[in-house]
Amino acid sequence: MRKKLIAANWKMHLVPGEARALVSALIADLGRETFTDREVLVAPAAILIPEVKDALRGSSIILGAQNMFYEEKGAFTGEISPTMLLAYDVYHVIVGHSERRHIFGESDELIGRKVRAAIDHKMTPIVCVGETQQEHDSGRALEVVLRQMEGALGSLTDDEAGGIVMAYEPVWAIGTGRTATPEQAESMQGAIRGAFNERFGRAAAQIVRILYGGSVNADNVDSLLSKPDIDGALVGTASLGADSFARIVRARAAK
Ligand code: 13P
Repeated sequence: MRKKLIAANWKMHLVPGEARALVSALIADLGRETFTDREVLVAPAAILIPEVKDALRGSSIILGAQNMFYEEKGAFTGEISPTMLLAYDVYHVIVGHSERRHIFGESDELIGRKVRAAIDHKMTPIVCVGETQQEHDSGRALEVVLRQMEGALGSLTDDEAGGIVMAYEPVWAIGTGRTATPEQAESMQGAIRGAFNERFGRAAAQIVRILYGGSVNADNVDSLLSKPDIDGALVGTASLGADSFARIVRARAAK
């Protein structure tokens, strides 16, 4: 059985004191519970990583990053490297988020290199794909997602592919309050798993975890996670409140 993953993407929010307070409130809320069927991850802005690492001490919540460059070091002003993240025990990194693609112009090729670098450093990339509103409206969603997958995962072996995490985040659902219906999400995520099956084989398709992201909240998470191909959630806005994120972490999930 695939373990669920409930991941918080804090994006460019919170200063150190706020991040510490949020982690403390989360630990206070969730601390007494042990989850055997799911993992919980928070991905703060890079500069918050030392503070959040310290605040998470003793907790089972996983520390992740929102982005990284593919080189280990060099003249790449403003970037952070896999080795810098590993120095803080960060083994999970979001790659190819739609905000990176659309605001910062990241290409499929660049995202593919970042995924390769994560794997080469024994890190788990959380690879985001998803179509824009216009692509959705013109019936090209699947074509776009498959192209993004090929760009991101083209260099991976079957074993490597099975170990990554995918996140289907339709751009029209991010930060809009307009979540995909569980049926829409399941249909695309089933197609993503089908593409894994064709490209990387049955074993990889069965173990790869595919999250849904885009306006996930405490009210819609149960119905999303009731779908067999939805292995968790990547949560933006609703992850910034301890109460709402703790509720999402406790979502009822399909067995
Ligand atoms: P929202 O939950 O705010 O829609 O953001 C989703 C997202 O982009 C997570 O990576």
